[in-house]
Amino acid sequence: MILTGRTVVVTAGPTRERLDPVRYISNFSSGKMGYSIAKAALDMGARVILISGPVSIPAPEGAEKVDIESTLDLLDAALKFAPEADIVIQSAAPADYRPESVSPVKMKKKGGDDMVIRLVENPDVAATIGKNKRDDQVFVVFAAETNDVIDNAKGKLMKKNADMIVANDVTKPGAGFNVDTNIATIMTMEERFDYPLMSKTELAGIIVEKAFELLKGKNA
Ligand code: PMT
Repeated sequence: MILTGRTVVVTAGPTRERLDPVRYISNFSSGKMGYSIAKAALDMGARVILISGPVSIPAPEGAEKVDIESTLDLLDAALKFAPEADIVIQSAAPADYRPESVSPVKMKKKGGDDMVIRLVENPDVAATIGKNKRDDQVFVVFAAETNDVIDNAKGKLMKKNADMIVANDVTKPGAGFNVDTNIATIMTMEERFDYPLMSKTELAGIIVEKAFELLKGKNA
């Protein structure tokens, strides 16, 4: 078991950004990609801390699950748990923006007028993890793209100070949000691997193995 004695922190699922007590802004992430990564790391012997947004699938047995709701919660949990990790894999889909204020009561219709909701930018959790990363840690991020996949992903790999990025074109049938399969390109600063359609379970195994190879290189 290659990851025995190692700790892997995996983030998964969407965030919810509250508008009022009954409404929120979110996205279509199901948690399937992140939960498959957590399972793959567990199967390879790791201790796994799974930081998860609200999803409807069960956590893999043995994972230490930390529930979060918003991107700000995700940031808090990442700052708390990332220092314990040998490998951090950020597959969650955090919201880039949140409502500027949260109404304490249910927002009412405005009698025919448009409603304008002002959004403020959320912190870039991955960039914060990347900034605080130690030399002996491996940090993996994802890129969910709809266009210019490779160029955008390369930019994110650098901007977030990650060691590896898993780019998925979420417009391709069978890839991205809320399906059991994915189509990925994995890149490091030196290498690029293009993968065909495969199950998220299979892709998760490849991601964790590649992260382990990088970890070995850093701790040789
Ligand atoms: O959960 P599933 O239904 O299985 O779907 C899987 C997935 C599509 C969610 C997954 O494969 C994926 O692509 N996850 C990343 C989604 C995303 O937020 O991508 P991005 O390109 O917007 O962000 C780039 C990286 O920065 C990601 O690692 C993201 O987690 C991170 N990020 C983004 C915004 C933010 N405010 N903080 C971040 O840390």
